Amino acid sequence: MSTPKSFADLQRHMTQKLRAADCDMAALDARLLLSHISGLNETQLALEAETPIPLGLDSAARTVTSQRAAGRPVAKIIGHKEFWGRRFQVSQAVLDPRPDSETLIEAALPLLPEAQDLQLIDLGTGSGCLLMTLLAERPMARGLGIDKSPAALHMARRNAHLLGLRARIALRHGDWLRGIKRTADMIVANPPYIERGQIDRLDKAVRLFDPRVALDGGGDGLGPYRCLIKPSFARLKSGGHLLLEIGAGQAEAVSELMTEAGFDNIEVKQDLAGRDRILQGQKSSRKIKKGFEK
Ligand SMILES: C[S@@+](CC[C@H](N)C(=O)[O-])C[C@H]1O[C@@H](n2cnc3c(N)ncnc32)[C@H](O)[C@@H]1O
Repeated sequence: MSTPKSFADLQRHMTQKLRAADCDMAALDARLLLSHISGLNETQLALEAETPIPLGLDSAARTVTSQRAAGRPVAKIIGHKEFWGRRFQVSQAVLDPRPDSETLIEAALPLLPEAQDLQLIDLGTGSGCLLMTLLAERPMARGLGIDKSPAALHMARRNAHLLGLRARIALRHGDWLRGIKRTADMIVANPPYIERGQIDRLDKAVRLFDPRVALDGGGDGLGPYRCLIKPSFARLKSGGHLLLEIGAGQAEAVSELMTEAGFDNIEVKQDLAGRDRILQGQKSSRKIKKGFEK
């Protein structure tokens, strides 16, 4: 293959290499990587298609293309990922925000009135994509993000700063809700939910590049739900909601845990691919009057 001379040539060349390495979205990945190394956005790349590439760009392209071909996700190469229209910085310490998790945002926003002071808690905040999106969409809300990983919290703090949310967010190191006294109108969580024995079978982009602490849900994948559902019920205000991301085949078991904890109005929401993705439940005031809350 001849040495690429123009941006269009280089992009084609990168796409072919990624396709040969079985990358599902070779063309998109090549565009994102080229945009990153050239500093040109997608529109500029289209306008500069026939412009000769600057010195050194070819070698930078070879580096990022080989990283992607070896399985490293694009977000981990370029250091950021879009989520609900905002940019989140990512590192080896956090799960890349996933489009599937936007289903949680879609389910949560109608439950959060705009002109109200609301308290939100995000368990296992990682990059902070869930909590920070909700706070950005609800300017009167305040939030607490908790994570067991100090390195993930470092990334979350950076994102809170870049998104201008530091005044409305607290980020704490912790184990789910242990030791947390504050109450909330909504608790959200996308906990690790992969069965431990399945982790080695995951796609290498996940298995090798997402932190294990973000994936490992214990023997049956449900360990974190067992730890956090009951304490969430206790910390929610009357009428408050719990929204949980779940993995394939977990809707029934997690919904049972929510029922046992006292939640009402339990609903499952599907992602764009039609898979059960979110479980939501409410702590209804009726239950509190009946004395469920101790
Ligand atoms: C699947 S990731 C979700 C990250 C982010 N909320 C998102 O949706 O992209 C799960 C997160 O839970 C955190 N985590 C795992 N065990 C935890 C625990 N016991 N207490 C608090 N956070 C925990 C991990 O460090 C990781 O950041």
